[in-house]
Amino acid sequence: MPSPEPLKRVLVTGGAGYIGSHVIYTLQTTRRYKVISIDNLHNAHPKSLDRVEQIARDALPADASEQDRDSTKIDTYTCDLTKRDEVRAVFEKYGKGGIWGVIHIAAYKAVGESTQIPLTYYENNVSATLYLLQIMNEFDCTRMVYSSSATVYGTPPVIPIPESTRLKADSPYGKTKVMSETILEDLCSAEPQRWRALSLRYFNPAGAHPSGLIGEDPRGRPGNLLPLLAHMAVGRVQDSKLRVFGNDYPTPDGTCVRDYLHVLDLAKGHLLALDALAPASTVFDNCPTDARYKAYNLGRGQGVSVLQIVDAMRKATGYNFEWEVVGRRRGDVPDLTADPLLAQKELGFTAPQDLETMCRDLWNWQTKNPWGYGEPSGALAPRE
Ligand code: WQD
Repeated sequence: MPSPEPLKRVLVTGGAGYIGSHVIYTLQTTRRYKVISIDNLHNAHPKSLDRVEQIARDALPADASEQDRDSTKIDTYTCDLTKRDEVRAVFEKYGKGGIWGVIHIAAYKAVGESTQIPLTYYENNVSATLYLLQIMNEFDCTRMVYSSSATVYGTPPVIPIPESTRLKADSPYGKTKVMSETILEDLCSAEPQRWRALSLRYFNPAGAHPSGLIGEDPRGRPGNLLPLLAHMAVGRVQDSKLRVFGNDYPTPDGTCVRDYLHVLDLAKGHLLALDALAPASTVFDNCPTDARYKAYNLGRGQGVSVLQIVDAMRKATGYNFEWEVVGRRRGDVPDLTADPLLAQKELGFTAPQDLETMCRDLWNWQTKNPWGYGEPSGALAPRE
């Protein structure tokens, strides 16, 4: 019996977070990758990866092989990417060439907050990316899938937004993503025979694994719309009304429009991108230069306004949200809706799960975990 193909080791930064935990779950179900996670737990709870291992174990067939059982275990490290010695120590454990590729998700990501503490965002999102790439280089780990963002487009001239749109971010957060993409592209241009990288420009991830075991668990009060609505409905946030940040935008109902996609569809996009970094891949065949670097939008191509989200969550939760219009939020742009065709054509990426499914899975996670991964401090009954 030939010995099974050894699993490729993949390091996921931010692995314990909302996106990271769903990406690791998706990698594990392929049983082609052995996952390592690095997370500083700034906006994540270690229990998320225990839950991912539980889901993966529960999914194993009774006669699963030893390798399949082993593939459900995640090597996890609590470490901050700005601490170069700590990161280097992780790579040293696996040796030169021991880690096949990196999915780099760890970053601060609140548009509004980034306008208040830009230096913190530049250190955590740009310096840390630079340090990580330098250490990867030292250890001959020269493949990266980079978590970028639709905010790189700023206020785009055309909707839906193609990847060819000029990059002109409006917020420090978006600028950290443009800078990191630029660093990656220059690195791949300098060493085209050695480095390969793909940037995935996320639109708005939403929802949770249908088991309700993993989901979005922001520290403190959620800044993002959907988790805030879920916290309001479950009684974790006592706001009587949602503050709608402006209804005077040039959009159908005056509120901002975003392109929401299910977090598991987003996670599948990372698996497709990782597979596309393999030598046999054709995604780099028509690159304008010989640099093996490309960027793809991960979205559905369907714009949804703030008020439409409120309505969808009203239906999913049965909670009658009230709202009031207040001033615009710094860094917000009117409409971020993807042109999803390039990723569909070249990666085979699709995001079939609709808004109703996203809201249902979010609500299932929230009602099963009213306090997220933290210990319940008093059960909560969803508000009427
Ligand atoms: C959506 C809309 C707000 C809260 C997020 C991530 C960002 C990026 C894209 C990955 C906006 C409005 C919100 C509230 C409101 N993801 N809103 N009242 O800003 O699109 O960014 O997705 O890169 O990292 O943060 O999402 O949910 O914060 O806002 O009116 O209390 O909801 O003004 O128009 P955003 P969001």
